[in-house]
Amino acid sequence: MIPQSFIQELLNRLDIVDVVERYVPLKKAGANYVACCPFHNEKSPSFSVSPTKQFYHCFGCGVHGSAISFVMEHQGLSFPEAVEELAKSIGLPVPHETSQREQETRAAHNAGLPEMMLQALHFYREQLKHSETAIQYFKKRGVSGEIAARFGLGYAPEGWQNLAKVFPDYAQSQALLETGLIIENDEGRRYDRFRDRVMFPILNARGNVIGFGGRVLGAGEPKYLNSPETSLFQKGQELYGLFQARHAIRASGRVVVVEGYMDVVALVQHGIGYAVATLGTATTPVHVQKLLRAADEIIFCFDGDAAGRRAAWRALENALAALTDTARLLFLFLPEGEDPDTYVRQVGQAGFEANFANALTFSQFLFKELTRDLDLTTDEGRAKLVQSAKPLIEKVAAPALQMMIRKRLAELTGLSTAELTSLMPNPAVSRPQESQSRPSQNRSPQVKARRAPSLPRQLLRMVLQQPDLARGIQIEGLDDGGSDERMLLAVLALLNRDPHITTPPAILEAFRGAPEEAVLSEAIGETWAWDGEFDLAQEFQGALEQLRSSARQKRIDSLLALAKTQTLSPEQKQALTRELSTGRAS
Ligand code: GTP
Ligand code: MN
Repeated sequence: MIPQSFIQELLNRLDIVDVVERYVPLKKAGANYVACCPFHNEKSPSFSVSPTKQFYHCFGCGVHGSAISFVMEHQGLSFPEAVEELAKSIGLPVPHETSQREQETRAAHNAGLPEMMLQALHFYREQLKHSETAIQYFKKRGVSGEIAARFGLGYAPEGWQNLAKVFPDYAQSQALLETGLIIENDEGRRYDRFRDRVMFPILNARGNVIGFGGRVLGAGEPKYLNSPETSLFQKGQELYGLFQARHAIRASGRVVVVEGYMDVVALVQHGIGYAVATLGTATTPVHVQKLLRAADEIIFCFDGDAAGRRAAWRALENALAALTDTARLLFLFLPEGEDPDTYVRQVGQAGFEANFANALTFSQFLFKELTRDLDLTTDEGRAKLVQSAKPLIEKVAAPALQMMIRKRLAELTGLSTAELTSLMPNPAVSRPQESQSRPSQNRSPQVKARRAPSLPRQLLRMVLQQPDLARGIQIEGLDDGGSDERMLLAVLALLNRDPHITTPPAILEAFRGAPEEAVLSEAIGETWAWDGEFDLAQEFQGALEQLRSSARQKRIDSLLALAKTQTLSPEQKQALTRELSTGRAS
């Protein structure tokens, strides 16, 4: 048996867009990704993958499911095989035959880390309110209260064990140690990692706190101290500010990548909401992939010095394989001595954005750097250029872009494209054929008569959309309802029982093989058209109240009907009075 907690962890770690893309080329369409459905024959794409829902759905043939079901269906694998395959792809060992006890500790453990990070965030934010020096520091750097709140900025006070106030098991907790919030020395003594620093929480794409960066208030070493890599936090995969920037990125279609926490904060403060930063590492291929998924235009912004140019070159190298023909990469170099923070404060939003027009495009920057120390008037210089360009150009996966770069190289070297091809064979520019997929058996297009969904069904859809809505919610009097009622209650019970379940695919996986699976998967399919454009929480409250009041009405009706044929017991009378009075009160 693979423990349920592991399935949840796996789903949390995977991105369904990555998973599907391993088998089917996807195209961005609004918030989602589309392709021709691999499970039935079609000419125009009706297969859609949602990064926010972590779910795929085909409007043509009705298939839908999680990353796990995709791999099962597409590769014809069993559930354990698909789990094994997916876990392997991200280097996660699959636990087998663990005892009940081990499973429980593991689940508690994994669930513990995000919760602890959140508690630390609250603590640091609270401490900021009480530290005049920290408040002054941010003020002096021009950070408004609103921006501080948006980024959850905080302050880790002086002292060695402040977090002991937050975590009563400070001295023992293994999980606390694994958050990286505290450090244990050789003698086993524990102390806070972050002391007397202003704090920048790092969120993942889902908005969970996965790490922190802390800056000294004045001079001091190190200037920035970052969380270590943990099971929650991998620097090469995360970008500071991406969660906060997601709406602005979508609205503008672009993202600007800078180097520092304060750069992001300052840009956002000045109206450039689509800013993110790498976390003290070079831009990685994973970063580029993530960013290209969010926007077609990436503007890398670097300092104008030699170090900035080196960092830009690394970003370019790491972007090669992730480039697509629709991607537009720009390299912007700021005047020497400026960083985005200082620069945007001088020139403001419009001034900053005006520079984008002067930024180098991908191929401009590529050739500028490749020819930097070469003399192209000599044969040797031109030959060197071909040799140094070759390995880079071969990495460019986007066919049209690769062709353009080859053409430019031909121009620069005075070779014909045919001559160039003889030196540098042009890889078949055709895309790999989509793998022959098995048409899925017993799956007929789901053409259903349209009818207004029942209230419980509507609530169910909302909960599937945003599981957190259902936490702590109880609904009485639905026990003898139909299948939608039973399904809703089962999902509410699951969510109330298991705080680790936070996404729709996680809910579905929890019911895999259970009788509810079909209804649930159908209901998830129905949520597809919604994309959080309206206030789901409010909608949910409204529908919940309606449902509760109709359940109450049912109870009243049945008591009244009973009263016609027999005398009510004292308890029944009491219940009736109670129901009637709550009914009036609301
Ligand atoms: P401010 O001085 O606050 O404006 O910072 P900055 O962003 O201008 O600083 P810098 O250009 O020196 O650093 C850019 C990024 O590199 C920071 O946001 C950190 O992520 C990282 N960084 C800077 N200094 C250190 C350091 O001493 N240690 C580590 N681990 N990372 C650092
Ligand atoms: Mn700076």
